[in-house]
Amino acid sequence: MTQDELKQAVARAAIEYVVEGKIVGVGTGSTANFFIDELGKIKHKIAGAVASSEATAARLKSHGIPVFDLNEVDSMPVYIDGADEITPAGAMIKGGGAALTREKIVASVAEKFVCIADGSKLVDLLGRFPLPVEVIPMAQAVVARKLKALGGEPRLRLKDGKPLLTDNGCVIIDVLGLQIANPAELEEKINNIVGVVTVGLFARQGADVCLLGTAEGVKTLTF
Ligand code: A5P
Repeated sequence: MTQDELKQAVARAAIEYVVEGKIVGVGTGSTANFFIDELGKIKHKIAGAVASSEATAARLKSHGIPVFDLNEVDSMPVYIDGADEITPAGAMIKGGGAALTREKIVASVAEKFVCIADGSKLVDLLGRFPLPVEVIPMAQAVVARKLKALGGEPRLRLKDGKPLLTDNGCVIIDVLGLQIANPAELEEKINNIVGVVTVGLFARQGADVCLLGTAEGVKTLTF
């Protein structure tokens, strides 16, 4: 099976977690896109969705799925999203698609986080994937120095030769070379650096379920 077929398989499996008549939180990225396409097929069964990025909102709307502003929604049963890395304990690195802040906000309102990922994303130790950190632009240099002091190698994420700007008008610093033995501790430490909007570690509130696409089928990990 190709990686895309594995992503499609977990996207299909995630539909089981969507609660009829309710609003579903929807993540960002290629796996989430497959999920949105599946959601389009059952759109008459749900009240709508909350999107974690402008790109996701546009894709949901293209399927005719009503998109709610998070400020109109008090709770939702489930948030479904991909990950760049996930551990056997359900801690994740996210933000490869630069949507980490809105992802973390929408996930915080959901009762359950269902991670959908192909098997390559499962790791024992987080950090091979550069850790994304969303930063207020004027704080970029000072935050980079502090991330370096934590033992990482900070790199400003570029797009077409210019700093990539997130949906929130911020920049992303990707931190290379970290071996993250205690993700919850590092999440708190980086979140406390002045100028940081969000770190792409989802450990203090990680996944509740992971649907993992493997050659032997979709495996369900619960945390
Ligand atoms: C988006 O900002 C990310 O958090 C994605 O969830 C993550 O990068 C996974 O993306 P893919 O599904 O494209 O691998």
